[in-house]
Amino acid sequence: MTTARFTGRTALATGAGSGIGRAVALAFAAEGANLVVAGRRQEPLDETVTLIEAAGGKALAVTADVSRAADAQALVAAAVDHFGSLDVAVNNAGVFRGGAPLADLSEEDWHTQLDTNVTGVFLALRAEIRQMRTQPAGGAIVNIASVFGVHARHPGAAAYAASKAAVSVLTRGAALDHIRDGVRINAVSPGAVDTSMSLGPGETEADRTQRMREAVPLGRVSATEEVAAAVLHLASDAAASTVGTDLVVDSGATA
Ligand SMILES: NC(=O)c1ccc[n+]([C@@H]2O[C@H](COP(=O)([O-])OP(=O)(O)OC[C@H]3O[C@@H](n4cnc5c(N)ncnc54)[C@H](OP(=O)(O)O)[C@@H]3O)[C@@H](O)[C@H]2O)c1
Repeated sequence: MTTARFTGRTALATGAGSGIGRAVALAFAAEGANLVVAGRRQEPLDETVTLIEAAGGKALAVTADVSRAADAQALVAAAVDHFGSLDVAVNNAGVFRGGAPLADLSEEDWHTQLDTNVTGVFLALRAEIRQMRTQPAGGAIVNIASVFGVHARHPGAAAYAASKAAVSVLTRGAALDHIRDGVRINAVSPGAVDTSMSLGPGETEADRTQRMREAVPLGRVSATEEVAAAVLHLASDAAASTVGTDLVVDSGATA
């Protein structure tokens, strides 16, 4: 029997119309949470809501661009208006514009990655913490970083790596600032995960399966559900004394 660790709690996930974010949303819903799912496009969010409702859960889709402060604030307000509190937040929305060596990176690709991956996490965190610290039960936040940040080397990804290193470090700083406010903040750093983001240019899923057999000790990518499992642990009461950590889920790539 599955234990329901989040019954009656409100959980928010950004980037929840696809990939890791959707898996995180479904996993929280399966353990009793009411979900607020966010992203820029309505349609994929509606699909996530449909999946949650079909499994007997409750979810609200809110379109938001996390790189805009007003959207981040409105997202948190929608969660509180609809479900009464914000107990858990997962800042997962992110973009990867990899491939080019740094000298050939466009300013647009630099700004897109930094705006979404760093400023977006800052703005979401700030809005979430401002709400959670007013609540008697506080809250728990998990940011999605990446092994490409502080843990691993990967050519052709300098800007993305810089943005994800910032997420790991921002997580630790925010955690120290707000643990005494009852807001517990951690990060998960995935390695290659089974989403389109981990496909190389022109690579098929079969190509990636072949590449990963050699590339990582476990011999395969992580499933989105495996990343979600790490997120749920960090957000759960069992992790009450885990503060400011950055949990690597990478099939042993950086072991
Ligand atoms: N897949 C991997 O191998 C891997 C490895 C390490 C880390 N990660 C990280 O894991 C997270 C999820 O990635 P994924 O693999 O699941 O990729 P994905 O399927 O592309 O998911 C990214 C999500 O973020 C949303 N998003 C992008 N920009 C946004 C913005 N400005 N505001 C709101 N939402 C935005 C996208 O939806 P919209 O386009 O509708 O906004 C999309 O649903 C990312 O932070 C990524 O960097 C992934």
